[in-house]
Amino acid sequence: MKKISVVVFLVISLFSCYKPKTSPPQEIKGALGEKAMVATTHPLATAVGLKIMKKGGNAIDAAIAIQFVLSVVYPQAGNIGGGGFAVIRLSDGEVSTLDFREKAPEMAEKDMYLDPEGNVVKAKIRLGHLASGVPGSVAGMWELHQKYGQLSWSELINPAIKLAYNGHLLTEKIAQSLNEQHNNFQEANRYQPWVVNEKGWNKGDTAVQKELASTLSFIQKNGRDGFYKGIVADQLIKEMILGGGIISAKDLINYEPVWRDPIKGFYKGYTIYSMAPPSSGGIALIQLLKGSEYLNIGNLEFNSAEMLHYKTEVERRVYADRAVHLGDPDYYEIPTEALINRNYNNIRFSNIKKRKKTASSKVMEGDVTPYESPETTHFSIVDPEGNAVALTTTLNGSYGSRVMVKGAGFFLNNEMDDFSAKPGVPNIYGLIGSKANAIAPGKRMLSSMTPTIVEKESSLFLVTGSPGGATIITTVFQSIINIIDFGMGLQEAINAKKTHSQWLPDILFIENGGISPEVQLDLEKRGHSIIFKESMSKINAVLVLEDGSLEGGADYLRSDSYAEGF
Ligand code: GLY
Repeated sequence: MKKISVVVFLVISLFSCYKPKTSPPQEIKGALGEKAMVATTHPLATAVGLKIMKKGGNAIDAAIAIQFVLSVVYPQAGNIGGGGFAVIRLSDGEVSTLDFREKAPEMAEKDMYLDPEGNVVKAKIRLGHLASGVPGSVAGMWELHQKYGQLSWSELINPAIKLAYNGHLLTEKIAQSLNEQHNNFQEANRYQPWVVNEKGWNKGDTAVQKELASTLSFIQKNGRDGFYKGIVADQLIKEMILGGGIISAKDLINYEPVWRDPIKGFYKGYTIYSMAPPSSGGIALIQLLKGSEYLNIGNLEFNSAEMLHYKTEVERRVYADRAVHLGDPDYYEIPTEALINRNYNNIRFSNIKKRKKTASSKVMEGDVTPYESPETTHFSIVDPEGNAVALTTTLNGSYGSRVMVKGAGFFLNNEMDDFSAKPGVPNIYGLIGSKANAIAPGKRMLSSMTPTIVEKESSLFLVTGSPGGATIITTVFQSIINIIDFGMGLQEAINAKKTHSQWLPDILFIENGGISPEVQLDLEKRGHSIIFKESMSKINAVLVLEDGSLEGGADYLRSDSYAEGF
């Protein structure tokens, strides 16, 4: 059946005058499954998701279990001390989105990270106790379970407790990343958390996390209260008091996730559902797709100079809009309708020139070299009923603030850096912001997380998302156009070299090997400053194939990600 559909697709491609296909479909396939699929950043998390669904749990149950497992096996971004966003599409087509983003503590102040000269103290907003927002992940998982859960809460947390208590083997990438953070772990903590290993971590070492197991057991017994009240909350507050942080018991008790209307847009007959503010992901993604449609980017040769020039020019304008217009909708009026409106975007992109980059030199320069690696994690799930979950979660930087709550064994986020600490001053992703994203007590910081579900003819088509800080939005954009416009299969679309630009810093980032020297020269002649990067994307996604079966794509090239189905 699959071979037939590939042949049909090739025939259609050959005779179609819609556009010159420059990247014919190849036989690069991800995992295949008849009924269900899980794609996450860690094989152990994928295995747990599958097990939950085989037991009769739905995609939301699997997502909850995976979120807790990732807090054990993928500590750089998996978390209970961070936050995230989930886009859910039920088999009947109902779409809902949950915001469990962190919030600024009530004691936060607009200028709290500025020194007496008015400069942002980067270390303070990125490392240590003051860097953390009020965590939202446990409340988010609890909320998802209250609304959609089929298996018991307790059953969903069991796998994470077992992995934390009995230990799991470190992958090479995680061992290496723990070693890279050795000094930061020491600097951020008042004691030696288990992640500090003077001999260095190696692949295959066992990570036993008894304290985290005990924290997870409290959450298992007491639901959200197991985190926001009682012993775990006490440990977190003590950590704040002793470490100079400002999260209070009241902040924890008052934390609530929010159901938000999805951002909905259309692209070439496909319907896109993504995350609304306080994530910029959904709006920016729709704008990018509108720009792609307006300039016919999908008709151009994949990663040619012309395609990358137009794509970059669109991205620069979209990120400029992001910097000025987007923030927490509970605190700032966001012009959502205008930003995703076709006419607005057509006008916005109408001054893009064919041969020359538009200058943005009047605006303050962003940091070119990120201070630390962007570590977020995304997973995509489809269950046997056809329910789908796209969930992106993060501590912000790798291991967040690097503060591990003493006695409780989990890392706290450094999400305060996603606020605009001072207008025009870039955060770790080089992103700048303004009033819309200024710090205020109880406010949610702007995010780039872009969990996204795409429908084709009102049926589920693609579940996608990625980590990567500012590059999340452009990565998700590329995952969609690579499939819809460039005829790639899912795994091929994931493997494909990515590019990214974001207005400021005024740079076109390209993955190593992504373009030829001729294309580089051509882009430079058009005015683009290019920086090559090792890796810019870790998409974990599920595609519904023509026969209704599922392809799971994981970014095997750039991460430990793993997809499997049944
Ligand atoms: N912390 C990365 C983001 O939310 O965009």
